[in-house]
Amino acid sequence: MAQNPPVGGRTRRRPQARARCALSLLTAGVLAAAGVVALAGTAQAAGALGDAAAAKGRYFGAAVAANHLGEAAYASTLDAQFGSVTPENEMKWDAVESSRNSFSFSAADRIVSHAQSKGMKVRGHTLVWHSQLPGWVSPLAATDLRSAMNNHITQVMTHYKGKIHSWDVVNEAFQDGGSGARRSSPFQDKLGNGFIEEAFRTARTVDAGAKLCYNDYNTDGQNAKSNAVYEMVKDFKQRGVPIDCVGFQSHFNSNSPVPSDFQANLQRFADLGVDVQITELDIEGSGSAQAANYTKVVNACLAVTRCTGITVWGVTDKYSWRSGGTPLLFDGDYNKKPAYDAVLAALGGSGGGGDDGGEGGDGACTATYTRTSTWNGGYNGQVTVKAGGSGITGWAVPVTVASPQKVSAVWNGTPTTTGDVMTVRHSWNGTLAAGASTTFGFTVQTNGGTSAPVVGACTAS
Ligand code: XIL
Repeated sequence: MAQNPPVGGRTRRRPQARARCALSLLTAGVLAAAGVVALAGTAQAAGALGDAAAAKGRYFGAAVAANHLGEAAYASTLDAQFGSVTPENEMKWDAVESSRNSFSFSAADRIVSHAQSKGMKVRGHTLVWHSQLPGWVSPLAATDLRSAMNNHITQVMTHYKGKIHSWDVVNEAFQDGGSGARRSSPFQDKLGNGFIEEAFRTARTVDAGAKLCYNDYNTDGQNAKSNAVYEMVKDFKQRGVPIDCVGFQSHFNSNSPVPSDFQANLQRFADLGVDVQITELDIEGSGSAQAANYTKVVNACLAVTRCTGITVWGVTDKYSWRSGGTPLLFDGDYNKKPAYDAVLAALGGSGGGGDDGGEGGDGACTATYTRTSTWNGGYNGQVTVKAGGSGITGWAVPVTVASPQKVSAVWNGTPTTTGDVMTVRHSWNGTLAAGASTTFGFTVQTNGGTSAPVVGACTAS
């Protein structure tokens, strides 16, 4: 099987590493033994998610709709942040072959050429799925349906040959609930269980350079449905059916939360000898609770060597298929949400200023971190919050302190903590004129931990 080049690695200059400077005058006693160094972290324009993920050997992408690419803020947010795109609907069967053997690729082509012009990779979604299937397919009798399926796979993959890092060859072929059975569909009902294998075998003959994935939802934790997919993948690997990856859609909300065994489930699939990918991530909610869930998902992927990338299912809440649940990283005005900061921090990226390199640029604030003192077992950090070109009346800054380190005190700000992420909001010091600044501080007990806190972007209110 041909190996793909690593995905997600866009060439872009990385932000400067934090400046370091030694403090010359320190209080005696407390600091004497520690060889104290202050980290003066000046927040830069935020590191892009795609770059931060690439530094970890992974891609970070978004689902994209062709009809929004003309919106400047949409395109600039996409281009500034993501290293991979998945066409949200444009490569589905009804979009590319609405009548038999008549293919139209124009909308999907727009996404692919946009991605290529910006150095982003492309995920292919999806070849064989019971949904968004044009009406002419389901009445076909078995023999005809088989040739229509194979022709569809062949034509679409040929058109995009060499341009797709991973294809969702078959999507959502298993039922929900406890049966572990296959879902009824024209393919399942007329061709039987073998349709999945046949689709993968056909796909391999067309583009041997693309990773071939099975993709599904409600398979993110261990349950009857994921067990059934697991058995299928195990069987495919044993018999040499060409499968390279399993996609976990990861659409989460309060009814379907991030499972506690998410990482373990990814790992057991990886142990079968396939890559795993988080393919359609969105998590309903807001604020620090949503941010903490995003952190869990990113950390789970990073903890599994064969988890090769994450795609969020859209750029902005405004156009999410579940926009009422505000499940994405950017709000409807393209402001970064706490979830964004949490993802960037989990990927090891640097926290950025409150706006994104001037984009938006209204009423923003910046957060600049400095370690002010260090002793055996702890340190004090200080964050300077500065208003941008307009005055602000409130601010919030996420600070991630990795376990086992713990924050034991906060002053001049009000913390709310979920998991490792502490969001500090103004207390008495929310109102800042244009260019004015204030500070808040915190004490960390290190408990043996050594990593520096990650100070995310300031959000003004
Ligand atoms: C969704 C799109 O986001 C919507 O715009 C469309 O109306 C329906 O499909 N599982 C999948 C995705 O594999 O293709 C679905 O995308 C979401 C669920």
